[in-house]
Amino acid sequence: MSVTLMGPARNRVDGRLKVTGAAKYSVEFEVPKCAYGWTVESNIAKGKITTIDTKAAQALPGVLAILTHLNTPKFKTAPKKEGASGIRSEERFPLNDDDVHYAGQYVALVVSETIEQARHAASLVRVSYAPEEPLLTMEAAEHKAEKPKKNNDEHVQIKKGDVEAALKDASLVKIEQTYITPTETHNPIEMSGTIAVWEGDQKLTLYDATQFVKGVQNILANAFGLEIENVRIICPFVGGAFGCKGAVWMHVFLAAMAAKVAGVPVKMHVTRRNMFVGTGHRTPTRQTLSLAATRDGKLQAIQHVSETLTSMVGKFTESCGARSTGLMYESPAIRVEETVYPVNVATPTFMRAPGECPGTYALECAMDELAIALKMDPVALRLANHADNHPTKNVPFSAKHLKEAYQLGADKFGWSKRNRDPGSMRDGDLLVGWGMATATYPAHKMSAAAKVQLRVNGTATVQCATHDLGTGAYTAFTQISSEQLGLPFENVTFELGKSDFPFGPVAGGSNSTGTVGTAIHEVAGLLHKALAELAVKDSKSPLFNLKTDDIAMIAPGRIGLKADSAKADAYVDILKRAGKDSIDVQSERKPPEENKKQAFQSWGAHFCEVKIDPILPRVQVTRVVSVMNCGRVVSAKTARSQIIGGVVMGIGMALTEETYYDPPTGLPVTRNLADYHVPTNADVPEIDVAFVGEPDFAFNPIGARGMGEIGITGITAAIANAVYHATGKRIRDLPITPDKLI
Ligand code: MOS
Repeated sequence: MSVTLMGPARNRVDGRLKVTGAAKYSVEFEVPKCAYGWTVESNIAKGKITTIDTKAAQALPGVLAILTHLNTPKFKTAPKKEGASGIRSEERFPLNDDDVHYAGQYVALVVSETIEQARHAASLVRVSYAPEEPLLTMEAAEHKAEKPKKNNDEHVQIKKGDVEAALKDASLVKIEQTYITPTETHNPIEMSGTIAVWEGDQKLTLYDATQFVKGVQNILANAFGLEIENVRIICPFVGGAFGCKGAVWMHVFLAAMAAKVAGVPVKMHVTRRNMFVGTGHRTPTRQTLSLAATRDGKLQAIQHVSETLTSMVGKFTESCGARSTGLMYESPAIRVEETVYPVNVATPTFMRAPGECPGTYALECAMDELAIALKMDPVALRLANHADNHPTKNVPFSAKHLKEAYQLGADKFGWSKRNRDPGSMRDGDLLVGWGMATATYPAHKMSAAAKVQLRVNGTATVQCATHDLGTGAYTAFTQISSEQLGLPFENVTFELGKSDFPFGPVAGGSNSTGTVGTAIHEVAGLLHKALAELAVKDSKSPLFNLKTDDIAMIAPGRIGLKADSAKADAYVDILKRAGKDSIDVQSERKPPEENKKQAFQSWGAHFCEVKIDPILPRVQVTRVVSVMNCGRVVSAKTARSQIIGGVVMGIGMALTEETYYDPPTGLPVTRNLADYHVPTNADVPEIDVAFVGEPDFAFNPIGARGMGEIGITGITAAIANAVYHATGKRIRDLPITPDKLI
């Protein structure tokens, strides 16, 4: 059967549940006798807790328990690092000692019958500290700087060719600039949260807002010394995550421990305020790009020196250079250097396109600056350096259609009408700027398994312990199931978000559609085989006595002889004649097949327009065209929404978002949505999304490379480049707020 680039544009299967409020998010589950936890946080960034006075709090009505490092039972296993078995960004357990590593660290937890009692009691807990001088900046942590060899198994210090020679070559055109991005904090509408329920002391159920139910299950089982099947994680809906729900955070351990100690279920709903300390953030970055090119625009050297922060309680690395310069353009010499400074700030974590997002911002601004130095069109410069092969792995990219993305994007946008001179384009009194940038994100592959039940009425249920973060995964997986099983879309139900289901990996790295889609493909094949086995034994079947290996799905709802589709049988007829109400089949989880002969990477081009009042230089993004090449687009509507979402987040990064830390205390002072500015509808124009390319069947049998993250890559640079084009001012530290343009 032929597969087109674009899958059908289905409405979300969970749309009605969501708009009617019937979709239950983790903290909305009703658990009898549930108590509430409220944390007390450290107001110093480094030091020791000297005393904790809980007497006044303890005396209040409703208070069931107060946990501090003095009375909290020890967690069992040493905290684990990330991996298939679960993810920790903060590699410690809460309340296990008197050390304070960052401001905002939870130092006590009050459990009460109502949330108001818990909050009031927490306000009466008195904590004294012996503070020490914290390290809060790159400058302060200079002596602790590290250059990690690898990040998640990927080399991050890259050296190819002679970069120094090219950067010294007087015949080449060069630029060298430093770009700064601030700390950014994930702000999904659903804050993180957990309800922990014990049955006896060996069985634990968590309703947890997470991107990885199987990971939470494994880590909690280890932390409490439980059999893995006695820990159940339930998470049918997630109200946005962006990476901050990938790891297991302190509130999850606290909820489970508090429920154990208090002897009642405990709900911990992370406050918006604590989302800024308790569930990670994107680290700030300082990136210096040096480019050297021939006068006709051929890159001879790219050097990307990236400096980022990590924490004292984890090793999270934001790999800016390796994930942009390491693969983006052809050049005989490439050097990527990454330095990480540990500071006394809560730990960073994954945030939509971790590495690629700030990395492409710096690289794609530098490319714009080089285009100007060369008096070259920015698209032409990128075409001149297009990489058919992976520039540092030397294998061809699979199904790369970036040139088409530039072409279609430029056509849709009207790029040829651009006057190259900065400040040359106007709309009445407003300055107009047009900018563009390349987008990129790798195709990640993980392992998963799935289970299907086909019923004699022609309906089926497919299950996998995967997730829908609000991305449309329910819908995409229902579509893939419908296609792979050969059943009408309306007849298929896809279930996810339960650790009882077959293995699903973390919903991160834009891997879910491809990974879980591959598992669905496999289980569909197993189902067809199981049906064939019934048919060949059935004398009334046209397939009687044939070999099962010669049989496959030949049309929706029918299996038949591959060589002669006239010999066929319908699923429901096979089940009916066999006297079966239903048939169940499950696939096995196995490591993903690796293809090292090609590189798998998604691509795109963003074109954007900004308008700026020269007197009050507030930047308004007025038009965006984004053309993406991500392999197959399984679900046209939800895929488009993913790209729009990435672009919206990129507008925030370019113009408004910044988590600011108070220099003396190290506490974030932007701790709510009034101070931390995410884009509103008024900040977001019509975003025109298109897709080019072909299904990437060399990557997986679904042909899909994923959509969740690529939208945010490059867009920030496209906006910054448009601002330069409008004003002639190059702002190299984000966000581009009006004060920087005055
Ligand atoms: Mo995403 S930042 O890989 O959860």
